[in-house]
Amino acid sequence: LRMRKSSKRSSAKSNDAISVQVDWPVNILGLNSGTSADGLDAALVEFKLGQPPRVMLYHTFEYPSKIKKKILALGEPDYNDGRGWLEFDMELGRLMGEMARRIINRAARSGLEVDFLASHGQTVRHLPEGRRFPLSLQIGDPWQIAGITGKPVVANFRRSDLAAGGQGAPLSPILHERLFRHRSLWRAVVNIGGIANVTVLPPLKSRRKPLAGDCGPGNMIIDDAVNRLFNKRYDRNGEIARSGRPDRILVNRIMRRKYFSLRPPKSTGREQFGRKFVSEIISAIGRASKQDIIATLTEITIRAIVGFLDRFAGEVDEVYLCGGGANNDYIVQGLRERLPGTIITTTTSHGYHHDYVEALLWAYLGYCFVTRTPVGSSSFTGSRKKTIPGMLCLP
Ligand SMILES: Nc1ncnc2c1ncn2[C@@H]1O[C@H](COP(=O)(O)OP(=O)(O)O)[C@@H](O)[C@H]1O
Ligand SMILES: [Mg+2]
Repeated sequence: LRMRKSSKRSSAKSNDAISVQVDWPVNILGLNSGTSADGLDAALVEFKLGQPPRVMLYHTFEYPSKIKKKILALGEPDYNDGRGWLEFDMELGRLMGEMARRIINRAARSGLEVDFLASHGQTVRHLPEGRRFPLSLQIGDPWQIAGITGKPVVANFRRSDLAAGGQGAPLSPILHERLFRHRSLWRAVVNIGGIANVTVLPPLKSRRKPLAGDCGPGNMIIDDAVNRLFNKRYDRNGEIARSGRPDRILVNRIMRRKYFSLRPPKSTGREQFGRKFVSEIISAIGRASKQDIIATLTEITIRAIVGFLDRFAGEVDEVYLCGGGANNDYIVQGLRERLPGTIITTTTSHGYHHDYVEALLWAYLGYCFVTRTPVGSSSFTGSRKKTIPGMLCLP
């Protein structure tokens, strides 16, 4: 990747005087830090002109509990300490930089070079219904990452969409459409992260537009309760949920909330489905066992996905799962039971490991940035137009 000052003054847009030059193939290290705040996912992706992206290497760095706690505290809706945000922005950026450096060194030992990085950062506020504008804030300073790794970093992928009137989320449908749309089958890609989002991909030949949105909470309500009640980070393979019984009456009541029936585009975050939501469920459930609480919260995640598909897609032929929630067998089994006519697999069976689709997304948006490819869609985020995602931070 080279920055070149153009000598051609004939260019219609004079502020295009600085251009980015790319040598093919280009290797981009995508860094993802999702709302679960579980860790940093890194995927090194090779892009060759006219070919699908290829993931060369991947790794997740789990965050130390201190860091995870801090992220969750900063994400609480009543946290409003500007200085605290600014300081942690730097601290997290440095930590991400150190982690990225380790993966870059590992890649080098396998003979792989990283051309540049693409970092999403950590969302600490997502307010699509902001008072005046949709708002979304990611921290983990990309200039720190650039400084530590000595590589250019493309970051701040949501801003151009926000400026175009979009909610800045979800962006993963851009990649889902690119990788998984089929000629004659209806597919849905369901990313179960802290928040879960669904991309409905009509067959190419139908000429219908894909549709996407955050369907509701994913793992983060389960993680929160498992942490409070069992002092664990998450419900490994859904074992705790499986040993409990969901309170279906309570789940039905929750499913009547306005968010679930809102038409896409829509996105959500900890503001709606954070600590307060989990506390409400725990107190509403009364005398149930701790396992029942986890089963109930997991059921909410399952029902939010199924409800989104029922309402906005009808029956689809295939569902591809990704995100950490695809490892939760209880969720996968619940989806299979409720979507009997649908084949449910993970993206791993289709060439892209389900734990790294989001990291691959940022790498892909980094690729769109350097190739000046506008992305987005009013049916995903509600933006008025496509935009070029990201901005460039030089070391
Ligand atoms: N083996 C597993 N069993 C159940 N849940 C899992 C497993 N592995 C990961 N998860 C869940 O996935 C979450 C991380 O998912 P991830 O896709 O990284 O979400 P995010 O993008 O929000 O960070 C964990 O917090 C946990 O809840
Ligand atoms: Mg994560």
